[in-house]
Amino acid sequence: MADEALVLGIETSCDETGVGLVRGNTLLANEIASSVDEHARFGGVVPEVASRAHLEAMVPAVHRAFDKAGVSWADVDAVAVTAGPGLAGALLVGVAAAKAYALAYGKPLYGVNHLSAHVAVDVLEHGPLPQPCVALLVSGGHSSLLLVPDVTREVVPLGSTVDDAAGEAFDKVARVLGLPFPGGPHIDRVARDGDPAFVAFPRGKADDGTLDFSFSGLKTAVARWVEARERAGDAVPVNDVAAAFQEAVVDVLTAKAIAACRDHGVDDLLIGGGVAANSRLRALAQERCDAAGVRLRVPRPGLCTDNGAMVAALGARLVEAGRPASSLDLPADSSLPITEVLV
Ligand code: KG4
Ligand code: ZN
Repeated sequence: MADEALVLGIETSCDETGVGLVRGNTLLANEIASSVDEHARFGGVVPEVASRAHLEAMVPAVHRAFDKAGVSWADVDAVAVTAGPGLAGALLVGVAAAKAYALAYGKPLYGVNHLSAHVAVDVLEHGPLPQPCVALLVSGGHSSLLLVPDVTREVVPLGSTVDDAAGEAFDKVARVLGLPFPGGPHIDRVARDGDPAFVAFPRGKADDGTLDFSFSGLKTAVARWVEARERAGDAVPVNDVAAAFQEAVVDVLTAKAIAACRDHGVDDLLIGGGVAANSRLRALAQERCDAAGVRLRVPRPGLCTDNGAMVAALGARLVEAGRPASSLDLPADSSLPITEVLV
């Protein structure tokens, strides 16, 4: 269709170099180069290592995306890039690359919010977003509940974590249990053979009447439990502890997401971010949405983790909504507020 915008999206806010090509709501290419293996021995992302990896991966990823999509720069209507939030040095590589491409090929540039992009990506899987919807974004860097009247212009924060992000809690608990980094997928896997009711770990802020989260008390409770067990010379039942920890996280996430829908009279819940790949989160969210009469949308795992297609998807929505492009001197903003969809 002629009125569908073809947008190249660049994402470098953390450790994934993502380049996506999207036409309208259709995914054409989603190339990802991850530096996660280089961070594994440190147990967390090292910003300088991530920035250098982005620098090396960027141009080849752009070339791969064009090859995959079978389009060329002449077909591109706009370039979109994650302007924030994220790691400052890492963001800078993507923003600089996007500016260079936009200037060299004479394309408008859209500096976008990473969190809005996590919401917008679902158009690639499930079509136009219901307006409004509630979004639960859970990853290694963020845990937020958002009211999204219109992803191209208005995103309202309803609650967020007061300490660790949900994915960060998964990664830290995995480390305590001797599982590799990033720990989320490993906890998900070993928990399948565990008993979620093995220990009733604390549900931080569960009943405080807010839509905020807290995971650091839970992480400490798991660490203390494991230490006590080890001190007593007993084996640690990794499957059971992982399952009980995971249950505590997904219990509060889903309860508060449903509460957000109820409080705001919204019938559609969208879950995104790396932790949205979690099988128990998906299952419990579906169960509770069904009970509450809420429709649930969760993109496939490859679109939940950081990627360039999500940035391109938001860019295409912005172009089609007629929003003005960003200035070529747009800054990378490591603490870009969620309310700023477009810089
Ligand atoms: O969105 P993402 O790729 O990057 C950030 O912006 O952080 O999310 C990565 C996070 C990591 O903390 C990882 O452990 C977690 O998502 N994660 C999972 C699963 N897959 C990835 N957490 C729980 N269960 C999973 N299956
Ligand atoms: Zn993310």
